[in-house]
Amino acid sequence: MAECFVLSSKKRSAGTEETDGDDLYKTKKSMLSTAAAWEDPAAALASARHEFGEHGGVNMSIEASATFTVMEPETMRRMFAGELGPDRDFFIYSRHFNPTVLNLSRQMAALEGTEAAYCTASDKAGMSAISSVLMQLCSSGGHVVAARTLYGGTHALLTHFFPRACNITTTFVDISDHEMVNSAIVQGRTKVLYFESISNPTLAVANIPELSRLAHDKGVTVVVDNTFSPLVLSPARLGADVVVHSISKFISGGADIIAGAVCGPANLVNSMMDLHQGALMLLGPTMNPKVAFELSERIPHLGLRMKEHCHRALIFARRMKKLGLKVLYPGLEDHPHHELLKSMANKEYGFGGLLCLDMETEEKANRLMNYLQNYAQFGFMAVSLGYYETLMSCSGSSTSSELNAEEKALAGISAGLVRMSVGYLGTLDQRWSQFEKALSRMQDSGVFKN
Ligand SMILES: Cc1ncc(COP(=O)(O)O)c(C=O)c1O
Repeated sequence: MAECFVLSSKKRSAGTEETDGDDLYKTKKSMLSTAAAWEDPAAALASARHEFGEHGGVNMSIEASATFTVMEPETMRRMFAGELGPDRDFFIYSRHFNPTVLNLSRQMAALEGTEAAYCTASDKAGMSAISSVLMQLCSSGGHVVAARTLYGGTHALLTHFFPRACNITTTFVDISDHEMVNSAIVQGRTKVLYFESISNPTLAVANIPELSRLAHDKGVTVVVDNTFSPLVLSPARLGADVVVHSISKFISGGADIIAGAVCGPANLVNSMMDLHQGALMLLGPTMNPKVAFELSERIPHLGLRMKEHCHRALIFARRMKKLGLKVLYPGLEDHPHHELLKSMANKEYGFGGLLCLDMETEEKANRLMNYLQNYAQFGFMAVSLGYYETLMSCSGSSTSSELNAEEKALAGISAGLVRMSVGYLGTLDQRWSQFEKALSRMQDSGVFKN
């Protein structure tokens, strides 16, 4: 549980008896509720420690300091020796732990049901979470087995950057073929099995329990990117060791922040902060506490947003299919992974907020997106996902353009694949009529027939 990671001794937790004077103030500063059995990410979030502000504000104060003072010179030595740390409210420097970033990290750990988490932000922050955790788990000469269908940036990191810069190599596999995964693992050398819970962009669903079992049998750590399905899936509760997120997407929800998170065991998160060997500490993709504060205010309504994204995606997918379009959406009953997703998903969130339309050619895909944006105002042509407006992009020529033609074919990315992140702004009927308007324009132009 998240709370186990930071049990403040300087700050008082709720439920303690002392309630007068300074103690009352301290009690209010940090409420640490009793760890409830993890059953649902929303319930876990409500059970996570709530930080109050310096003056009793319902929101925590932002700890904007880069550096932290001590009362005794000896304390500094003990902090650097690892004897005193954030678990007891001792902070050194904000590239290491920062209290506001730690608060957001506790929320992330609660959401994913992991012992701990830490958040990152830099130019490409989901990427900094992914690259840092993989570098922490693999040394030079290490080997990764990864899904063929991955976000293009991650694919490029594993294909090009890691072999050149770190001597870490990857074998790409079809993760629905467990025999193939099994035989790609080189005992002793393979450190990580890496995949996305719902893949970008093809929306293939990974069998997290089976893959985790298979990897653990061979001593391999399972790292899952859950960017496409926060709250919908909880990979760590299904057997994965580490969950990574691009917070820039659904978790942020505003398309205004680039950030990432690594959620996993406390010893992994702590090792990533080690002064001598820690990938987060030494590579320094530190999150700004002001950004951490903003994000921590958005996480409480992530569940509501996800439900609406998923609800609309399902309705649109059903209606698009009825119109004769080739729709990929794991919420559709005839999707090959529908039953698998149903068996793993948390109740009542749905099947994800993204759907894909296979328009067969890039020309048709571009024309549809053009009409959808510029003629019908259905959404925006833009990469990324999880925004309140619908975002759409042709994956093969954008976010998966890092894959070569053969890799795209193996990953199942057709040239006309349009990925849509379904927004929730406006009424559902209003948005659907905009979609129909664009589609009939397509039909009028003779490019599309059904
Ligand atoms: C599944 C997935 N993982 C990771 C990333 C990288 O995240 P960021 O852009 O926040 O670095 C992206 C997209 O950018 C993504 O779609």
